[in-house]
Amino acid sequence: MRSAASLRASAIPPTAGLVPSRRLTDLPTYVFAWLDSLKAKARARGAELIDLGMGNPDQPTPPAIVETIAKAYADPSTHGYPPFRGTEPFLESVGRYMKTRFGVDVDPQTEALCLSGAKEGIAHATIAFADETTVTLVPDIYYPVHGRATGLVGGKSYLLPLRSERGFLPDFRDIPSEVLGAARLLILNYPHNPTGAVAPLAFYRDAIALCRDYGILLLSDLAYSELTFDGFVAPSALQIPGAKDYTIEFHSFSKTFNMAGSRIGFAVGGRDAIDALHAVRTNVGYGTPAAIQAGAAYALDNVRDLEAPVVARYATRRDALFNGLRSLGWNSEPPRGSMFAWLPVPNGFGAQQWTEHLIDTAEVVVTPGNAFGPGGERFFRVSLIAEPEILELAVQRLRDAGVRYE
Ligand SMILES: Cc1ncc(COP(=O)(O)O)c(C=O)c1O
Repeated sequence: MRSAASLRASAIPPTAGLVPSRRLTDLPTYVFAWLDSLKAKARARGAELIDLGMGNPDQPTPPAIVETIAKAYADPSTHGYPPFRGTEPFLESVGRYMKTRFGVDVDPQTEALCLSGAKEGIAHATIAFADETTVTLVPDIYYPVHGRATGLVGGKSYLLPLRSERGFLPDFRDIPSEVLGAARLLILNYPHNPTGAVAPLAFYRDAIALCRDYGILLLSDLAYSELTFDGFVAPSALQIPGAKDYTIEFHSFSKTFNMAGSRIGFAVGGRDAIDALHAVRTNVGYGTPAAIQAGAAYALDNVRDLEAPVVARYATRRDALFNGLRSLGWNSEPPRGSMFAWLPVPNGFGAQQWTEHLIDTAEVVVTPGNAFGPGGERFFRVSLIAEPEILELAVQRLRDAGVRYE
């Protein structure tokens, strides 16, 4: 029996007679829940917060995508359960996108799968491949589901340190051989949430070599593949010859097309791995509405035109924020990918303490770095989810509160 105190530590309310599973209660505290309660308390005492804590895009889905969805939804043939793998036009557009964007051949019928978002897909892939006997290799500074899904199926995560000196790329040479022997999954995510780090193709060559040598499946999360700046073009692990046998790659429409509320993404990879992911999904759900898939197919077929203003907007915000932060003593390099700034906390603060300090003194909300694992304890994340004027106002509030990085 779990004690009431330990249940509270996981932010799960104990209900008389109902005790959540150990797999759930043993998860580390979800720092975002702590942040939510901190914000609620600040608002209750009248604070007017500038909230740069979440990763939810603030812009609407482009009108042409919305119109395509509306038109498809007006057709009653889209009102039944959608086909399990995805509609044919959607899967065909995935195949075209992977070829034109990455030069990668994907068979739409057997090597692609529609997902209700990359997040859910990664959790389902973890169910498909991890269990009590396996280890998942997870970079320490990770998007929460990467580290937590394995715990939910009773498996163990082994954290790979990420250091700024290495561009926040893990060093595979540091992994002990007994860990590699038990490893079943390696999770990577570049462009990276929260650090904004990007990975060159050569990095994937090393990752695939590791996977091949030890029989590991790479789950590569490309949720930010199109949000890159300064001429950087994010590669796909599938560009490495033979990678398909060891990779499932996850793509999302949430950020590139401001479609976070539509819950759609896709997985591509080798047939066997995609079949296993598909098998999990058929057991637990039905997939994404066909009308949403129609809009997403339109988005992929028009990605160049649709992504350009989104990327330009984030680049302008990034530059405005970093100009302001430089004046407060932060000299960090602006990120080449994602929609986040990842910054060191000043000496004398832990990540959560610093977040609380900014809310209390400047009414600005950021995310404490330890929300992304112990490796983030000396950092905080600022989301570029507001226009430059608001970001400049946030910097001004910090200045007025006497905040400086030193
Ligand atoms: C790294 C990463 N992967 C996946 C997601 C979620 O993607 P989706 O909305 O497609 O589930 C996010 C959202 O913030 C993310 O940061």
